[in-house]
Amino acid sequence: MADLPIRLRPVVEDDLVMFRRFATEPGLIGLDWRGFQDAQAVARRFAEDGYLGADGGRLMVEVEQEHVAAGVVTWQSGSYATGSYWEIGIALLPEWRGRGIGWRAQAMLCDYLFRHTPVQRIQAATHAENTAEQKSLEKAGFQLEGVVRAAEFRDGRWRDGMLYSRLRDDPWPR
Ligand SMILES: CC(C)(COP(=O)(O)OP(=O)(O)OC[C@H]1O[C@@H](n2cnc3c(N)ncnc32)[C@H](O)[C@@H]1OP(=O)(O)O)[C@@H](O)C(=O)NCCC(=O)NCCS
Repeated sequence: MADLPIRLRPVVEDDLVMFRRFATEPGLIGLDWRGFQDAQAVARRFAEDGYLGADGGRLMVEVEQEHVAAGVVTWQSGSYATGSYWEIGIALLPEWRGRGIGWRAQAMLCDYLFRHTPVQRIQAATHAENTAEQKSLEKAGFQLEGVVRAAEFRDGRWRDGMLYSRLRDDPWPR
């Protein structure tokens, strides 16, 4: 089956409905559900910088033919002693998962960030039980670096994280 053409585009006001759903519908966001979040924060951030800030942002993953937003990709700056990196994330609505969108959206976000910012490193973390995201990251050109022990408190206990990265000079996904 041919891949559904997708593109990344900036957030518009209508997209805030999806963000509020991710903040308030238990489990919709997937394993990253951390309890109810302030749904009003979404509009405040949109008013501040349209989700395109110097330290991070969001782009919508749009299915081109249908002009429908399938989900969102995110990036946030982080730093080690002498260098900064981006940490990326993604959440697709359930009806768009498992259709080849996730890995391509994350590869497209890497292209975008490597093109428009000078970072050498993009990292992403996921959970041991999130096979879809592990495969998706590998298809998008990421390599597993290791397990970060007790990285997050989620769903009642401390859990390990799996850390991936893609460097500017790594091979591009096919
Ligand atoms: C994780 C997520 C982004 C993956 O995107 P996706 O569009 O569903 O995945 P893709 O269709 O691009 O699939 C990529 C690979 O994962 C595999 N895959 C997809 N869903 C899978 C599942 N539920 N179980 C096992 N493998 C799966 C695909 O078969 C494909 O591998 P293949 O080419 O070897 O067949 C998406 O499912 C999602 O938004 N999930 C909820 C939010 C989330 O978990 N975000 C990441 C937080 S760390």
